[in-house]
Amino acid sequence: MSDTHRPDLAALPADFVWGAATAAYQIEGAAAEDGRSPSIWDTFSHTPGKVAGGDTGDVACDHYHRWPEDLALLGELGLDAYRFSIAWPRVVPDGDGTVNERGLAFYDRLTDALLEAGITPFPTLYHWDLPQALQDRGGWPARETAEHFAAYAAAVADRLGDRIQNWATLNEPLCSAWIGHYEGTMAPGLTDMAAAVRASFHLHLGHGLATQAIRAAVPDARVGIVNNLTHCDPATDSEADRAAAYRSDGHNNRWWMDPLHGRGYPQDMVELYGTEPPARAGDLETIAAPLDWLGLNYYFRSVTADDPSGPLPHARPIDLPAGTPVTGMGWEVHAEGLTKTLRRITEEYGARCLYVTENGSAYPDVVGPDGQIHDPERTRYLDEHLAACARAVRAGVPLAGYFAWSLLDNFEWAYGYAQRFGLVHVDYGTQRRTIKTSGHHYADVVRGHRARRSRAA
Ligand code: FCB
Repeated sequence: MSDTHRPDLAALPADFVWGAATAAYQIEGAAAEDGRSPSIWDTFSHTPGKVAGGDTGDVACDHYHRWPEDLALLGELGLDAYRFSIAWPRVVPDGDGTVNERGLAFYDRLTDALLEAGITPFPTLYHWDLPQALQDRGGWPARETAEHFAAYAAAVADRLGDRIQNWATLNEPLCSAWIGHYEGTMAPGLTDMAAAVRASFHLHLGHGLATQAIRAAVPDARVGIVNNLTHCDPATDSEADRAAAYRSDGHNNRWWMDPLHGRGYPQDMVELYGTEPPARAGDLETIAAPLDWLGLNYYFRSVTADDPSGPLPHARPIDLPAGTPVTGMGWEVHAEGLTKTLRRITEEYGARCLYVTENGSAYPDVVGPDGQIHDPERTRYLDEHLAACARAVRAGVPLAGYFAWSLLDNFEWAYGYAQRFGLVHVDYGTQRRTIKTSGHHYADVVRGHRARRSRAA
């Protein structure tokens, strides 16, 4: 199917899980159907100037109606598992209180169909679509939101827990807190670091409370959380740049990993932010409940220089030298950062089971005269990062699976539909799906690994 050299994946375990990922607001559409209420992303995307091209998730990939076709694509790619997210505003439209049966029924049908196709569901309970009703009552900076999240998690786990074992609580709480509440370029679009610190803490607390709720409802549940972590390098060897890279590491990694591992919040960062997380007695223990697995979303590394007067954490991403390979997002292609991050999580935090829950690349795809999408750069990105996974495994990382981001081209948040990450191309005018060359290549890689798996059996 492809002329690219296959990466050496011999080190990956025989039962390695091959998957693809999506998120509700990015693909579902049907924004006002079957009782769904607006989320903060509906509000944000409908606010002029917030999303490129004025795009919204109103229709997206129309997955809410076309999901059988999308599940068939997963089957065609030969994948073992599907990571998707459940929309809180479909299931509990007011954020707390009444459960909307029609919303829950959608995920019920999806779950049954996945299992029938032999594909393991890996739902994420929160991929950034907070019910607007809860935002109106304070959002993540308010403690009640964490409690409502746990109640919503319990409702979903009660309904689907007889069929679903693997659960992720949150996707990339860093983005919800730092980008949504401090940088302001994601919903809810605030620029207030004190609110961002409170949001980060209540996201963690929500994770801990939801973990308890899922475990109470599903005795054999395997509960994890998905973090986007970044390998942070200094721009130069100067003391100032090395200190900046350490702050960047605190902002991107330690703040998000330490509390989950019983270490509390890093004191250097608390001082830098000038705000204490509002923890009450017992909260830090709730947050640090042992994880069954940890998800890593990895796209690029960070190289920063000291920037005392710039935004927190006073570390400025450098302009990449000419010739550095970058994706359509301008993100540096640096697969070694994935190996290093996986090793660090293992060696420093003692992870016992890891998944790469997202990894992928956007490039400006063109539909060729043959109707096909030839995307050698995405294929190369995929191969390089799979090879990086294999290197990590050889170094002792307990990596159990890989989920490509994304199954489909979709609504890329503030970038709208302009950035395409899919293994499958979506023509938004007709909603026609076409597997790209990279998608066929991924299927090939998976088949190759599976052939070895069955030979080994
Ligand atoms: C991650 C998000 C995911 C997608 C990719 C490109 O930060 O979790 O929804 O947008 O980036």
